[in-house]
Amino acid sequence: MTSLSSWRERVEVGAATLFRYTLSVQADPEEKKLVLVMVGLPARGKSFTARKLARYLTWLGYDTRVFNVGEYRRERFPGHQPHHFFDPGNRENLRMRDDLAEAALEDLLTWLVPDGDVAIYDATNTTRERRAFITKHCDEAGVSALFVENVCDDPEIIEENIRATKVGSPDYAGHDPDEAVEDFRKRILHYARAYEPVADDEGPYVRLIDAGRLVVMHDIEGFLPGRVVSFLMNLHYSSSPIWLTRHGESISNVQGKIGGDSDLAPRGHRYARSLAGYLIRGVSEFEEMRVWTSSLRRTIQTASVIELPSTQWRALDEIDAGLCDGMSYREIRAAMPDEYHARGENKFRYRYPRGESYQDVIQRLAPVIIEMERSRQPLLIVAHQAVVRLLYAYLMGIPPEQAPHLAIPLHTLIQLTPHAYGCHETRTPLAPPVPKQQPSS
Ligand code: SIN
Repeated sequence: MTSLSSWRERVEVGAATLFRYTLSVQADPEEKKLVLVMVGLPARGKSFTARKLARYLTWLGYDTRVFNVGEYRRERFPGHQPHHFFDPGNRENLRMRDDLAEAALEDLLTWLVPDGDVAIYDATNTTRERRAFITKHCDEAGVSALFVENVCDDPEIIEENIRATKVGSPDYAGHDPDEAVEDFRKRILHYARAYEPVADDEGPYVRLIDAGRLVVMHDIEGFLPGRVVSFLMNLHYSSSPIWLTRHGESISNVQGKIGGDSDLAPRGHRYARSLAGYLIRGVSEFEEMRVWTSSLRRTIQTASVIELPSTQWRALDEIDAGLCDGMSYREIRAAMPDEYHARGENKFRYRYPRGESYQDVIQRLAPVIIEMERSRQPLLIVAHQAVVRLLYAYLMGIPPEQAPHLAIPLHTLIQLTPHAYGCHETRTPLAPPVPKQQPSS
């Protein structure tokens, strides 16, 4: 199982000898690999939960994959399958559907055991018999299973889920939306006839009731299951947008230096005013908006013109450039050529001497992500280049290793609005434009 660990390496910087501690993802023989087994009737938010979990765990550095049995079915039986295809009384179809579920489980274990860290088995898994089959195979493969059951009896939420995720799915391509909803409701009834909720004697489980209104858990042990549960406890189905922006141009930006805690430069102050004006005039959610900044002056000053209370998070501070803080990249290349080269080789894992790597920043941002998932209000986050890149990567489901290469320009407001399985993005450049040669963290 993957875990974070560190090693020490000597680094020569000018006349000084330093030790670089590097976080790495390594095998920890103590912790078993994990299968998250989704359970629940159709349209209860299983795939939404599965994808959110996959996104979070991937972002934290766990090699995670979702195996969706519906996709196996669509590949084997392309096109629309009417509701009676899912009737458990139809023995022939039931056998074929069981075969598909077993093929997906086999693929999952074939990937997880040698290669992965966490596999998510996204299927209905509504009977005890099916779950006992899964647990048996997980035990034999030496991996843990944790059931994640989505329960919902709220007709409004169910209707919303059907319309948001099913009507537009390949199962109903070209169908009238109302007919699709009607057919899907009948499909649910077939599953409901055979549904047995997860019981305590089946193993560890988390039950999410009515889209996170209530969370019940049983027999949860271990670091990774604990992380999964704490994420799920905060997860809900909000469509409130999140706005991300870097601070306005700072004096260090103008000087081409990284790090530090400088004030805004004149153009940065103008950006702060443009941003506040845009939010007041252009954002209907302005009154309910919450504002988060880092603890550094340039983000606090950027947000100070917006007449809303703001919260400062140290966790949102820029990547710590350690001994390179206050230097320009040209100075780093001249004084520490090995460092300069190492950073170019792997910007994600590279750690500044006595500072941080992008990978380290992810670990300190984890509580921010949990709070972001918990928040039901629209949120404006004013932070720094490396931090905004990582938050953006999380929200857009981009592998974190790609984050250091994402373009997040100064004086640009990014709006991300959640939809069923991701976010819509809008970028608004605001005045004043900034010349291109800014240092990049
Ligand atoms: C499906 O075929 O869409 C779902 C399969 C299942 O019951 O898990």
